[in-house]
Amino acid sequence: MDDYKKHTTKDGSLSLYSLSYEEEFHDKDGALRESINKYLLPAQLEQFSNTEKIVVLDVCMGLGYNTGCILEKLLQTNIKIEWHGLEIDEKPLNIGLKEKIFQEIWSPKVLHFFNSLNKSGKWTEGFNEGTIHWGDARNKIFDIQDSLKFDLILLDPFSPQKCPELWSEEFICLLAERLSKKGRLITYSTAASIRASFKRAGLNIYSIVPSIDDKSKWSLGTVALKKQFEQQMIVNNYQIKELSIKEVEHLATRSSIPYRDPTGKGNSKEIISTREIEQSKSQLINTSAWRKRWNTAR
Ligand SMILES: C[S@@+](CC[C@H](N)C(=O)[O-])C[C@H]1O[C@@H](n2cnc3c(N)ncnc32)[C@H](O)[C@@H]1O
Repeated sequence: MDDYKKHTTKDGSLSLYSLSYEEEFHDKDGALRESINKYLLPAQLEQFSNTEKIVVLDVCMGLGYNTGCILEKLLQTNIKIEWHGLEIDEKPLNIGLKEKIFQEIWSPKVLHFFNSLNKSGKWTEGFNEGTIHWGDARNKIFDIQDSLKFDLILLDPFSPQKCPELWSEEFICLLAERLSKKGRLITYSTAASIRASFKRAGLNIYSIVPSIDDKSKWSLGTVALKKQFEQQMIVNNYQIKELSIKEVEHLATRSSIPYRDPTGKGNSKEIISTREIEQSKSQLINTSAWRKRWNTAR
């Protein structure tokens, strides 16, 4: 427990602060609320209602809120679930499962899922199955057979400044290659570098629309889809929209320069300093000019 501090967020759900990354796991407004608004709603599970099977990848499972919310819905359907998780540390889930406020928010089936992963790293329930691959996501993704494509990828690492290795152009490309034709990759990040990497990986990107309570924010995150698959659900829905002019212009600033990790073994300091050097030499417009034009805070 030395690495983590427990606390209760505003919606009453448990969260952690990582002492080694010096960063919160979730928004202070609510761990559960964040997973619902940034992952469950943009997943638009209704698009899979006629599907026999759904394959899910949770990158950085942590306490498991993103998966938990999605499983609560999927387990009420007849859709067969194959779930994979990538997470370097077993402790967050272990800590969560010891806390009553964490246990109480989940149905018995989802709690069984978490307890099974915690105990054996595996989950089965009827025809559903899941595996957590403990270790560095950059290596562990290769433990999942290459032919398996994901319908949902939930990408939730610490911020790019703290964990750039999981936001690198190379890792994003790997994830993009593993998306199924109708799949979607969802993340809380609105960073220009991440969005630009998605685009270069051949994905179409959409902005997650803030809920009424989050109106002061311009976006809650990003949904990335395969280009060739025009999802009709995107049009006229309240969860995802095309990027605004402001967001498109953001992608033309120096902030869009990616994090690079060509060996897949780079450490965060190296990755960040390489990017800073590239930014300092860049001809792209300065992000402060964009901020000024759009009156956007840092
Ligand atoms: C922001 S937290 C994830 C929150 C989580 N989705 C939840 O609902 O609690 C980031 C997580 O990334 C994990 N992590 C950090 N570096 C990693 C790596 N290289 N590979 C896999 N997981 C990593 C951390 O252990 C932490 O649990």
